[in-house]
Amino acid sequence: MIKEEAENRIRVLVLKLNQYNFEYYNLLNPTISDFEFDQLLKELETLEKEFPEFIRDDSPTLRVGGEPTKDFASVIHRYPMLSLSNTYSESEIREFDARVRKAVGETVEYVCELKFDGLSIGLTYENGVLKQAVTRGDGVQGDDVTNNVRTIKTIPLRLQKEAPDIFEIRGEIIMTISGFRTLNADREEVGDAPFANPRNAAAGSIKMQDPIQVAQRPLDCFLYYLPGSLPEITSHYQGLQYAKTLGLKISDDTTICNSLTEIFDFINKWDTARELLDYETDGIVIKVNSLAQQKQLGFTAKNPRWAIAYKFKTKRVETILLSIDYQVGRTGAITPVANLRPIQLGGTIVKRASLHNADIIKNLDVRLGDFVYVEKGGEIIPKIIGVNLEKRTPTATSVQFISHCPECGSLLIKNEGEAAHFCPNEDHCPPQIKGKLEHFISRKAMNIDSLGEGKIELLWESGLVKNPADLYELTYDQLFGLTKVIPAEGVKSEKKASFREKTAENIVHGVAQSKVIPFQKVLFALGIRFVGETVAKKLANHFQNIDNLQNALFDDLVAIEDIGERIADSVLTWFSRPEHIELIERLRKHGLQFESMNRLDVISDKLAGKTFVVSGVFNHFSREEIKQLIEKHGGKNLGSISSQTNYLIAGEKMGPAKKAKAEKLGIPIITEDQFEEMISSN
Ligand code: IVH
Repeated sequence: MIKEEAENRIRVLVLKLNQYNFEYYNLLNPTISDFEFDQLLKELETLEKEFPEFIRDDSPTLRVGGEPTKDFASVIHRYPMLSLSNTYSESEIREFDARVRKAVGETVEYVCELKFDGLSIGLTYENGVLKQAVTRGDGVQGDDVTNNVRTIKTIPLRLQKEAPDIFEIRGEIIMTISGFRTLNADREEVGDAPFANPRNAAAGSIKMQDPIQVAQRPLDCFLYYLPGSLPEITSHYQGLQYAKTLGLKISDDTTICNSLTEIFDFINKWDTARELLDYETDGIVIKVNSLAQQKQLGFTAKNPRWAIAYKFKTKRVETILLSIDYQVGRTGAITPVANLRPIQLGGTIVKRASLHNADIIKNLDVRLGDFVYVEKGGEIIPKIIGVNLEKRTPTATSVQFISHCPECGSLLIKNEGEAAHFCPNEDHCPPQIKGKLEHFISRKAMNIDSLGEGKIELLWESGLVKNPADLYELTYDQLFGLTKVIPAEGVKSEKKASFREKTAENIVHGVAQSKVIPFQKVLFALGIRFVGETVAKKLANHFQNIDNLQNALFDDLVAIEDIGERIADSVLTWFSRPEHIELIERLRKHGLQFESMNRLDVISDKLAGKTFVVSGVFNHFSREEIKQLIEKHGGKNLGSISSQTNYLIAGEKMGPAKKAKAEKLGIPIITEDQFEEMISSN
């Protein structure tokens, strides 16, 4: 391609891809399939590699992650980045309103907004292109974190329409609560310390040195303040609406309020409604709407006089600690759980609270019979944050952390540097076995959704399944009619539940289907301590098959990027147990994948002569994995639908145009499950 053509094509691709991104992430309304998007992105990447002189600042390839930064450059803010004065009381809001009216007259309109709990960021667009993203720092100067902020998909790299040459907007980078929970679960699985809350996680993520890693963090952003003045914009609200037309993310919950009553209604509504949001808000912000009035009011040294933040009170109650249960997790970690005298806390009745580990119990100096303070944080279960010592009675007894596993009686161990106690009996302690089976069948592992928690319990109790390999030996006859007795509760009599025909069929079928799940997921499914999804992927990519991994030495393991001594030790210990080697051999005999997929490896010719188009997002596989499977079974992938296509494999979010075309040409549209069936049937 000649230079001019390349430059042109790069420009067109960047424009198109930015638009598709905006439709997907901001409008939640994609107009092309992921597959088509990826094809265009790949084309752009190739062109940029060949013609690096034409790489543009708004190129979506920059979202994937630029070069790591050692130190962030310090940038002086064009306008100081102030914070807000805080209040917890209604009377102070009345005082604020009185102050405002005294200064600007009786007619005042306010804008009420959620106070997003993250870290503030200033974005500068030059000629419509995102040029700089700077943290608050000390308010005068902050860190240039542009490369990291570019990875946040809801922040446009190019504005939707023409804007002033230099356009600055401020807002908050946040982490979703659901994303935060998944991130923490993943971290705990590999032995990394979990983040205390979504705000810390967001702040920690934005300060990471490698944008590739930032891109994997579930970050989002709400924008709420335009520091400069803009032609024809006379109110804060109008400014936000204008920013919205530029494609910037503004909260839909921002509301104009004309009186204190309306402000208090807004506060009261969100004091409870915030529990339903997937991000944390720690209060609401009240701002004078008119920019002329804002100007009149001005600033103090630290805060604007035209705005105030009302902080929600953290919901805290006091109740009695009755007893402590000790739960054994899938990895053998012991979690102490407090049983409390039931008490109402923000819309729910709380009976239990996590006490995390022995150190926390010790630090809190909590005793049985104590009156404890319970708070609801970002976590699902509430936590005990302190003891009311004034109410402590002499009968309160100190907590003796257990020394033996409550389930199997093994002596507990506590490794140096780790907070949790562990039951070492990983292959024979019932909750650990059940937990491992549940992990094995879970969505991110072998994805056998015909088996759920309750069913695993029954299979375990009936003695049919003691380890994952047993699942592959289950027969329809064993399963059909298998009965669980549900013990009587109160006046209710004992009940029985048994597997019906369809359930039994589904289980056998689901287990068989899982045999095509790729090696990296099988490795994750084995439940080796500290081998989470990402580590499993790294190990699978590096060693290619289970035999190489099994034969790996400590030095081979730690030589891999991001594989530390703890993971290496854990892998070596796991493979040193004969029962684990036997488990692998049995699973291998049943046909599970213990080798990384390589395009050239042929598994079968089941799809010989057949052509496929793969589109959308799938549950069990990535699109790339499906395409590899097609080739490994002798089929052929096509880039687009034509009369030559035999099947369209459709995932979620497939573009409607593609579906319509397939229907018009009479091409069968099949699901991921149907495809799995095609390649797993004998
Ligand atoms: S306005 C000049 N609006 O809360 C006023 N701030 O101390 C600029 N925050 O530093 C801030 N949600 O990080 C504003 N809707 C909102 C906000 C908000 C969260 C943060 C911001 C600020 C802190 C207040």
